[in-house]
Amino acid sequence: MMAEISGRTKIAALFGCPVEHTKSPRMQNAAFAATGIDGCYVAFSVPPQELSGAVQGIRSFGMLGVNLTIPHKEAVLPLLDEIDPEAQFIGAVNTIVNRSGRLCGFNTDGRGFMRSLAEAGIAAAGKRVLMLGAGGAARAVGYYLAREASSLVIVNRTRGKADQLAADLNRVNPVVSVADHVSLASPALLAEVDVVVNTTSLGLKEGDALPLDTTYIEPRHAVCDLIYHKTPLLQAASAKGATVLNGSGMLLWQGALAFELWTGQAAPVEVMRAALE
Ligand code: ATR
Repeated sequence: MMAEISGRTKIAALFGCPVEHTKSPRMQNAAFAATGIDGCYVAFSVPPQELSGAVQGIRSFGMLGVNLTIPHKEAVLPLLDEIDPEAQFIGAVNTIVNRSGRLCGFNTDGRGFMRSLAEAGIAAAGKRVLMLGAGGAARAVGYYLAREASSLVIVNRTRGKADQLAADLNRVNPVVSVADHVSLASPALLAEVDVVVNTTSLGLKEGDALPLDTTYIEPRHAVCDLIYHKTPLLQAASAKGATVLNGSGMLLWQGALAFELWTGQAAPVEVMRAALE
């Protein structure tokens, strides 16, 4: 249940384009109601050319802050007063906190993913990890995986992007290497890893190819996808006896971490999880 809107209600919001299908309002409004905080979360469809005005609106309206999604996560950086070092490294901000008119940017995606991994009993610490993809999502989760894993191998269709990401991540922790895209079809690659993380968009649409040949997946593997539903990759890995994890936990935890940044209070995670389901 959403709390009543009063003269004191503080607004948090999502800025994206499109936003119609987002589950964040449901999750965040459940959190405001459960904690008794007089807040409300709405989704605004903000076209790229309106982003700067919308960001100024966070100050004008005294908003708690916002979440950002496609296409604003990178474009918003020059509009902020302060950027957390982790978000700076990732080069993308998904959460803005309004500190008395000073807009501070954070990225809760990567940390959210690590919380969902831990919760599923898939600790990355000391594990050998294979990450598929080298786009924005890979940069966010790769930043944390590189810090925890004993090794991190990146494979991407466009090799140059994997090389660049590996070079950047090796400055965080020098455990990162790149394997060629064709190696996805060889047994050797999966033989040398414990955890697979798909950050590519393959699996989002019906009829997409698998991001990885699943022939060599074994029960000892953990296979994770950042996509919210059980993708064909996860279905195939599950059929092979592997532990699987979809991206719904990451969605939950990135939202819980954003709620904590806006309110300074612990997020009611179980209430938020129930609202998402
Ligand atoms: P996001 O922010 O979700 O990571 P992105 O930055 O556009 O989005 O990255 C998309 C990722 O999915 C990239 O790694 C991309 O590979 P390329 O760098 O080669 O473009 C990967 N990807 C998308 N479509 C793909 C496809 N059909 N086959 C293989 N990889 C694909």
